[in-house]
Amino acid sequence: MSERVYNFSAGPAVMPITVLEKIQEHMLCLPGVGASIMEISHRSEAFKEILASAQSNLRSLLAIPDDYEVLFIQGGSRLQFSMIPMNLLSPEQPSADYLITGAWGKHSLNEANKHGDMKTVWSGQDTNFDRLPSSGDSGGKWRPTPNAAYLHYTSNETIQGVQFKDVPDTGDTPLVCDMSSDFLHRPVDVSKYGLIYACAQKNAGPAGVTVVIVRKDLIADVSEDLPGYLRYQNHAAADSMMNTPPTFGIYVLKLITDWLQEDIGGLAKMHELNGAQAKLLYDVLDANSEFYEGHAQPECRSLMNVTFRLPSKELTQKFLAEAASKELKSLAGHRSVGGIRASIYNAMPTSGVECLRDFMEDFCKQNS
Ligand SMILES: Cc1ncc(COP(=O)(O)O)c(C=O)c1O
Repeated sequence: MSERVYNFSAGPAVMPITVLEKIQEHMLCLPGVGASIMEISHRSEAFKEILASAQSNLRSLLAIPDDYEVLFIQGGSRLQFSMIPMNLLSPEQPSADYLITGAWGKHSLNEANKHGDMKTVWSGQDTNFDRLPSSGDSGGKWRPTPNAAYLHYTSNETIQGVQFKDVPDTGDTPLVCDMSSDFLHRPVDVSKYGLIYACAQKNAGPAGVTVVIVRKDLIADVSEDLPGYLRYQNHAAADSMMNTPPTFGIYVLKLITDWLQEDIGGLAKMHELNGAQAKLLYDVLDANSEFYEGHAQPECRSLMNVTFRLPSKELTQKFLAEAASKELKSLAGHRSVGGIRASIYNAMPTSGVECLRDFMEDFCKQNS
């Protein structure tokens, strides 16, 4: 296959074509360096400049205040599930709150429970994670636990396709957010958070690098007995280079954040584009609700992962096969939700979403 397909993968996911072209152009020789990004020392001036630009791009896109560190860590978001309780719990605050709105929140809670007795302050399990606590009365109410070290939530549940529109209010309790699957798709008020983390392989780059944005005071006094790599303060003190960092991933993240700033025009613009694209698909679900059943309650639908089911398993298989024959790929839903998941991250071109929309309309006409 030599032509690019429309790739609706949930991650690693589609990247901007101009970024891929730049990587290709500089694959053999970074300008002025004489070698590729993968062949130069992380201590070289060239790499240090790339890392500094990646950090400053993130700082300017998200308006990150100076009292926050921007760290690049390996181990994916899953390692954060452990590093967060290891660094933020203390003998004085041995427990934290978790809002469980889908599969990833559950995974993060399971890891955290190895370090203390976490409190589930809200869970959407009973309705198979089709809603959020902020979604009106149907979502239920929750309260932060006094003396919780932090409250953890997942802003966008990649598998179920539910996404918070607002930031949960925790008062003085530091808010910790897994933004893995909606990072950099909208402006965020970083000052409302204690810690934000996101693996790169959806909106920010290739697999292998995870961004952690953390308030400096939260990590300053953490015990030095933690394994060195798992202590945030060590990454901060070494400017994310306590060991060899994922140089290629950081380089691509720099190119993607350049693209967001220069080609897209910032995160407000990105959010507008994402909203318009997601609407194309949700409109088809709403207009054909006897055929397509959206998983998420309408008020918490994700702009990143559109999840829906068809009337039968046979029709789902037919949908996937016919879509694939039209170069619409990686649309199968996760087995816990079934049906279809169209991941339409930042780099998905509008033409891809339009093509899927047209296909969905035709498929419904022909099969209902
Ligand atoms: C919301 C969310 N959190 C965490 C993860 C896990 O990320 P990783 O595979 O980098 O550990 C994913 C991966 O898809 C995710 O979507």
